[in-house]
Amino acid sequence: MARSTLRRFRQDRLPSPLIRVALWGAAAAVALAVAGCGEQSPLKPESDPARDIAKLTWWMFGIAGVVFGGAVVMLLIGWLTRREEGLPFIGKRSNVETGAVVVFGIVIPVVVLIGVFAFANLVVLDDTDAPKASSTELTVEVTGNQWFWEVRYPGTKAVTANEIHIPVRTRVNLVGKTDDVIHSIWIPQLNRKIDTVPGHRNRILLYADKPGRYRGQCAEFCGLQHAHMSMYVFADPPERFRAWLRNMERPEAPPAGPSARGGKRIFMANQCASCHTIRGTAARGDIGPDLTHLRDRTTLAGLTIPNRGDYLLRWIRDPQHFKPGNKMPALGLSDAQIQKLVTYLEGLR
Ligand code: CUA
Repeated sequence: MARSTLRRFRQDRLPSPLIRVALWGAAAAVALAVAGCGEQSPLKPESDPARDIAKLTWWMFGIAGVVFGGAVVMLLIGWLTRREEGLPFIGKRSNVETGAVVVFGIVIPVVVLIGVFAFANLVVLDDTDAPKASSTELTVEVTGNQWFWEVRYPGTKAVTANEIHIPVRTRVNLVGKTDDVIHSIWIPQLNRKIDTVPGHRNRILLYADKPGRYRGQCAEFCGLQHAHMSMYVFADPPERFRAWLRNMERPEAPPAGPSARGGKRIFMANQCASCHTIRGTAARGDIGPDLTHLRDRTTLAGLTIPNRGDYLLRWIRDPQHFKPGNKMPALGLSDAQIQKLVTYLEGLR
């Protein structure tokens, strides 16, 4: 019996290229799921809401795996024990076959779907919902712009971009807004995503169990540089966060040295000052990110390049090189002038 089954299996082999593609696809999906995407993986949660989401993901993955495995096993049984070549004749069924169709085709899917629906709605949605304002200790306003995030701390003068600092183990009320199109704020290790909708304020709880850096990404297609619209959340010990916030409230650090002073003159005399704000100076533009404490940030251009002098110089020389389509124009300055600008900007701590 076993030998004849095996022979039949060999005789009409399954279409092997298709099977191979399916197996590789499945292996890649599992590898991706297990590896996650490092510091931006919803499968490495660092807060209660994110843990709920990860739990739901794994449960759904497990249940789907069992269902898929069961379906494949039954398909194989049916195929290997068939009495005729070709597709099985659909006609009279035995009671056992009808029972199997009812149990596996109706009862089990209904029970599983109701269970998942209940868990998702009663537990996960509830835990990831907008927090009660009274239950949070700090509010951070994050505004989407094509293509960077402006970050404000209401009640303070602090403004920054793309890099949100929060105190660790503190319930933070994140308010998401937009200045142009719909974006979506998503920091997968900390919570679900919220869309930023014109004329509307969405809220979500931002909470981190451990100090560290959590990567986020705009999760709604918003134009040419949507993919270069990332953000970091730094969860710091509370006293370090307070020191950071105090420093961010200060106006411009006056330029030290002739080169930096020359850079400031160039900044104020050119278009820079009409697009960017540096508090404590005449620069009050609101098209680009606030630069009052530019040096505080670890990255530039929505995490596209590191915040280093050499990158800053190349960015100012040709702003469209790293991020084509962004609103910053090339100013046609000489390299010596750009170097002075960089010296000034690097002093903005
Ligand atoms: Cu902003 Cu996509």
